Amino acid sequence: MFVLGAISKKNYGALRRRIKLKAAMQVVTIGNRTDVPPREETREGNYFVSNYPPFSFWKPERVNEAVDALNRAPVRDTPLGVYVHIPFCRKRCHFCYFKVYTGKDSSEIESYLDAVRTELALYADKPVIGGRKPRFIYFGGGTPSYLSTKQLGGLVDEMKRLMPWNEAEEITFECEPGTLTEGKLEMLREIGVTRLSLGIESFDDGLLRSNGRAHVSKEIERAYTFARSVGFPQINIDLIAGMVGQTEENWRETVRRGVEIDPDSVTIYQMEVPFNTTISKEMRDQGLDVAPVADWQTKRAWADYGFSEYRKAGYTVTSAYTAVKDPAKAKFVYRNLLWAGADMLGLGVASFSHAGGTHYQNEHGWEGYIDRLGKGELPIYRALTPKPLERFVREFVLQMKLGNVERSYFLDKYAIDMNEQFATELGQLRDEGHLTFDDHGVRLSNQGILQVDRLLHRFFLPEHRNARYA
Ligand SMILES: C[S@@+](CC[C@H](N)C(=O)[O-])C[C@H]1O[C@@H](n2cnc3c(N)ncnc32)[C@H](O)[C@@H]1O
Ligand code: SF4
Repeated sequence: MFVLGAISKKNYGALRRRIKLKAAMQVVTIGNRTDVPPREETREGNYFVSNYPPFSFWKPERVNEAVDALNRAPVRDTPLGVYVHIPFCRKRCHFCYFKVYTGKDSSEIESYLDAVRTELALYADKPVIGGRKPRFIYFGGGTPSYLSTKQLGGLVDEMKRLMPWNEAEEITFECEPGTLTEGKLEMLREIGVTRLSLGIESFDDGLLRSNGRAHVSKEIERAYTFARSVGFPQINIDLIAGMVGQTEENWRETVRRGVEIDPDSVTIYQMEVPFNTTISKEMRDQGLDVAPVADWQTKRAWADYGFSEYRKAGYTVTSAYTAVKDPAKAKFVYRNLLWAGADMLGLGVASFSHAGGTHYQNEHGWEGYIDRLGKGELPIYRALTPKPLERFVREFVLQMKLGNVERSYFLDKYAIDMNEQFATELGQLRDEGHLTFDDHGVRLSNQGILQVDRLLHRFFLPEHRNARYA
């Protein structure tokens, strides 16, 4: 039995046959030749490129590099941001790869929040802060909205005391719709949240249930209406193309509803199945090497459909995953600064940071994280200081996800001409129709941007190209 909700082994077989049949019907005509492109099945593994060099190169024996970086003054003109990881959820979604806990009681949550407060207090005195105030705060998860108003109030008061938010241009708060009440939403606005991000994923109750989501569509309507009435400057919704059991029809309906509710921005992810998900565990138990979700061509076609519907409604696509209603109003400061080399202090278990030129990650186990803070030490578990060429590659690959990359930015910042550095790779991708480039920079085509994550590994330095990513 494939236990993921309604997906039995029999249904799984039927789902795969339906997807294959549809794939076989998508033929490509080149001259007189009619080709069926090979399908790229969804297999276990990381697809999304979120950082560079790959996490597998960050090492415990290099933690001293992070300690040294924190004890130096900041690199001039580097913006600062704070990420807070709240690792609690009502249920673990079958596709989720984040560090989350579902059974923690209120005293355990309180100890965790104490540890986060201690962590920020330890940072507040470090030379790397150098008088800077955060330009963005990001509450991510897990589910930050799982916290009660009391827990949230205690955390935020102390955070603001230690590192005032009066220069923060954006405060993002991730929410699971079923955890929101009117009172909590009012409090979020009061503490200064400017960008509320709702994990909607789908409007189809059957699909939400069979993918292990805790919320139902009624809760989306209720939370969204409350959130609108409270008046956040930006409400973002997350949708996933290719959930287990998704059909073209229910994807189109999700997009229709997603446009109808009129969010300020939408994030459309294509379902990936990383190693630490419930789906991948089931696949291994059953000896399956293909995941029970649509293949990549189908997911790209669905994401393309989603973005084209938002474009028709007047939205502008601003990255591989996002469309915004008004680009002048709905900025994404966190993403833009992070992808341009900002420092970010990642608080919480397993959080990732970048400070003073060094990447590092916190302890990824509950006890390790809490115990080290209990002893008054920063809970840094592994680190890596990228060389200047690696920093250049990092920013280049991340900015490719925006759909265009400016040549002058890299000439000014790194004295590297990206057109020369990547002449071969850019030439190949141009010949394949994924992008164009000239003296000003690179522009990805629509097909290029829809599959950007699978195009990025070729820009990695040779020693990182075929290595495990995470
Ligand atoms: C931390 S969650 C957002 C807040 C809250 N935990 C929730 O899920 O409602 C971040 C987002 O990552 C996306 N996501 C999680 N696992 C994914 C996967 N395997 N493939 C694609 N997107 C995924 C979902 O869209 C989810 O909303
Ligand atoms: S997708 Fe969100 S709600 Fe689901 S387990 Fe992951 S972090 Fe929690």
